[in-house]
Amino acid sequence: MPRTLKALLPALAAFGLSIGATQAMAQDAALIAKGEYLARAGDCIACHTAREGKTFAGGLPMKTPFGTLYTSNITPDPQTGIGNWSEDDIVGVLTDGHTPDFDFVGGAMNEIVKNTARLTAEDRRAIAVYLLSIPAKPFAESK
Ligand code: HEC
Repeated sequence: MPRTLKALLPALAAFGLSIGATQAMAQDAALIAKGEYLARAGDCIACHTAREGKTFAGGLPMKTPFGTLYTSNITPDPQTGIGNWSEDDIVGVLTDGHTPDFDFVGGAMNEIVKNTARLTAEDRRAIAVYLLSIPAKPFAESK
């Protein structure tokens, strides 16, 4: 192998890697955009936002036969949101309503799950990836 080519190899390898990384980023961006679209179409914001500027941070009171239920914070805030959830955890809720703590979502979310259960697995994954990509917003309102 000519010496110059040999010298170039590491650079070429690095170039190849960076193309791979760029492709992965583009795929992520496409998935996030799709998730955002689906979250808008699914009206997730309407229920999961109590206050302007606190999009997805939950806290909206909902009357149920069992008393008032507050919508959950579905931003990646580790304390008040779903920051400790994995992608699979979110996909799980959207598939059959089960949460990582072996509970099931109730109230209005139960009805939503009937819809998200009918999406494709990839669409549910897109919503999960999108939710984990948005800024974490703590919601510390006293309930
Ligand atoms: C009609 C109102 C409503 C809509 C629309 C809605 N949700 Fe919910 N969601 C709720 C309520 C209420 C809860 C809390 C249920 C409970 O505590 O049992 C909840 C809980 C959740 C949870 C579980 C959070 C946790 O900490 O347990 C996730 C995740 C979630 N919703 C995601 C979504 C997504 C994604 C969408 C859009 C596709 C959506 N929700 C649309 C009302 C809604």
